[in-house]
Amino acid sequence: MIEIDKVCVDFAGGGGASTRAVDEVSLHIQAGDIFGIVGTSGAGKSTLLRTLNALTRPSQGSVRVNGVEISALQGRELRSARQRIGMIFQHFNLMHTRTVAQNVAFSLKSAGWERSKIAPRVAEILELVGLTDKANRFPVQLSGGQKQRVGIARAIANHPDVLLCDEPTSALDLETSATILALLKQINQQLGITIVLITHEMDVIKSICDRVAVMSGGKVVEQGTVFDVFAHPQHPFSQQLVSHTLNLTLPERLREHLPGQLLKILFIGDSAEQPVLSDVAIRFGVSVNILHGKIEYIGERALGILVVQLSAGEDTQSVDAAVDHIRQHTAQVEVIRG
Ligand SMILES: Nc1ncnc2c1ncn2[C@@H]1O[C@H](COP(=O)(O)OP(=O)(O)OP(=O)(O)O)[C@@H](O)[C@H]1O
Ligand SMILES: [Mg+2]
Repeated sequence: MIEIDKVCVDFAGGGGASTRAVDEVSLHIQAGDIFGIVGTSGAGKSTLLRTLNALTRPSQGSVRVNGVEISALQGRELRSARQRIGMIFQHFNLMHTRTVAQNVAFSLKSAGWERSKIAPRVAEILELVGLTDKANRFPVQLSGGQKQRVGIARAIANHPDVLLCDEPTSALDLETSATILALLKQINQQLGITIVLITHEMDVIKSICDRVAVMSGGKVVEQGTVFDVFAHPQHPFSQQLVSHTLNLTLPERLREHLPGQLLKILFIGDSAEQPVLSDVAIRFGVSVNILHGKIEYIGERALGILVVQLSAGEDTQSVDAAVDHIRQHTAQVEVIRG
């Protein structure tokens, strides 16, 4: 559906130097997916997203949307391809001198809708985003969450195939963010619109995305299902993002001074159903002390994470044997301190 193939974007800088904002990125995004792109500020996320509707042109490589190479289109063909791609922004970008209904109607007029069909479509789409009673208000009279709902209404009014979202919840509080993310999910499921969403927060990725690409320094350093990237992040930058979100750090006093070994254990699927820790306590005579724990729900799947201390006085062999046993019966074990 969206094929990004070895895309580079260079910006001219002062004195002939140039900045490579996007560096050889290749991604394939399936129709109907909610695809997240996560990375820190300056990673190149917005620049990459803007190549998907040719607001930015790649210096090298190609971007195909629905089989059409959008990066090569011009003029009328480009305008018509863009009408199949909606976009929403962190700061909403609404027209302040027009009402909510007029903001939405404007996008339909620009797309060449017949005059008589515009008002019913505006009413329909405002109902979908829950703003029927705000149709005649101006943006300044709305809360941030309501403004983003107008942004979404405007972006999807013309029945696009793809919705591009550039940090759609970064200007909103946590609770409002959750309602906007739920609305995006509803739009994806109800209307089948493919969503590409960029964010610097793994929590946003976790709450609605199916797949994720991690960007750092203009490159995609890792991509996969959200569950896999959370469960087994491969690149140090992804590991850092995930561990920051899971927040399983121990106070230094515990990390440095507790006797025995400290482990981080991952439980997935079947391994979550076996009493592995009480087994090792009985079989190897070790004491097990739980220091940290949580269950993350990612889509329908549960990912259990425990940080435990295993100790058996001077008997380090029993502790080693217990660690081996846990390794064999759980998804993953990381020795935090041996
Ligand atoms: N129009 C431009 N001209 C020159 N340099 C640019 C331009 N747009 C972006 N850049 C540079 O490209 C790099 C990537 O910027 P980009 O806005 O894509 O990052 P981002 O990941 O979206 O960051 P943020 O999370 O802060 O929005 C940065 O170094 C930025 O300074
Ligand atoms: Mg950005």
